[in-house]
Amino acid sequence: MEPTRTHSHGGSLFQELAPAPDPPVYATTVAYNKDPSPDKLHLGIGVYRTEEGNCHTLNVVKQVERMLANDLSADKEYLPITGMPEFNKLSAELIFGCGSPAIKESRVATVQCVSGCGSLRLGAELLAKLYNQHVVYLPEPTYGNHPNLLSAAGLTLKTYRYYDPKTHGLDFQGLMEDLGSALTGAIVLFHASGHNPTGVDPTCEQWEQIRRSVRLRGLLPFFDCAYQGLVSGNLDADAQSIRMFVCDGGECLVAQSYSKNLGLYGERIGSLSIVCKTADVAKRVESQLRLIIRPFYSNPPIHGAAIVTAILKDRGLYKEWTAELKAMSDRLVGVRRQLFDALCSRGTLGDWSHITKQVGMSTFTGLNEDQIDFLTKEHHIYMSYDGRINIGGLSSKAVPYLADAIHDAVNRFP
Ligand SMILES: Cc1ncc(COP(=O)(O)O)c(C=O)c1O
Repeated sequence: MEPTRTHSHGGSLFQELAPAPDPPVYATTVAYNKDPSPDKLHLGIGVYRTEEGNCHTLNVVKQVERMLANDLSADKEYLPITGMPEFNKLSAELIFGCGSPAIKESRVATVQCVSGCGSLRLGAELLAKLYNQHVVYLPEPTYGNHPNLLSAAGLTLKTYRYYDPKTHGLDFQGLMEDLGSALTGAIVLFHASGHNPTGVDPTCEQWEQIRRSVRLRGLLPFFDCAYQGLVSGNLDADAQSIRMFVCDGGECLVAQSYSKNLGLYGERIGSLSIVCKTADVAKRVESQLRLIIRPFYSNPPIHGAAIVTAILKDRGLYKEWTAELKAMSDRLVGVRRQLFDALCSRGTLGDWSHITKQVGMSTFTGLNEDQIDFLTKEHHIYMSYDGRINIGGLSSKAVPYLADAIHDAVNRFP
């Protein structure tokens, strides 16, 4: 028998561990931070920034934080396992609409989660533990952490066609064919709006065809809603795809994040909602979620939920939030237009109209790895190797610099 190794023998118990690589988006951030160039641009990580390049904190959030700090009656008692009840109620209403029949009929189980990633992981844990089909179809391409989150829970990953590199738009035919041949009962992950990384969303008519196909084949839709309000500037419009599925009385899961639309990245606040056929099933589902959460992190933190709840329950604050969101989404549209115009005015080789056709925080530029490598090495522009840039991280004053650099890269590696 091997002798037990202890620290008293000098070596670490973890000596044999191989160093793990940084996830790509963090590796890009590390490289960016090390770069001393004053011109450097970070268009990798999905954070909405000000014209000065700082992470944007919404005024309404600052206001609520002051209110919370002044409220000396608030204590730090543990929240329930499923989080703050008022937060859950208001979050469900935000996603499904106040008049949603599913909410009125108490068919929705909503629990507070550790932002979008935590909501996705919790949903995946529930499905891996209790749902009879473990195959999940992801759009190709998709948010880089989706495969990690879902496979870590024990689900088996497959993909469905989504993006057409020739048109820089939706491969609707491929998508419908792949849904049509998906395994019966399989889980299908959809981006509710503002698809990351492509910025390509189906139209309402296409969503309706997708919905019919999903229901026909008995697939289970799992929506990831990370950009509600930032895509069109309207919270209801950006949840429309989800609401179409809820309207038909069928079941679905929704992971909701307040990272981007309230700028609460580091607060890690979101929710998981599971829409069920009956109130009785929703109660059982919620009880099972409690069983998963308790040995995981016991119960969620207070602060982010308190901020969101204060905004969602107050008519005036909610109005301020929607006005700020509209301004943020207008800025995204404006910067897209400026980048497109700047490339056109330079006569940069290629058709760049997809930059203005795509929506939300992500733009899939179509730049190849050589061009991206060149942009980083020669022009200090950091972005992911799939060609996605975070439009939310691009200021108007940086547009000419980026356009010059793209022009240069395309000429060098046509
Ligand atoms: C599509 C998508 N889902 C989920 C997330 C995770 O967000 P959160 O920070 O809320 O965990 C992101 C973040 O970029 C995202 O783009």
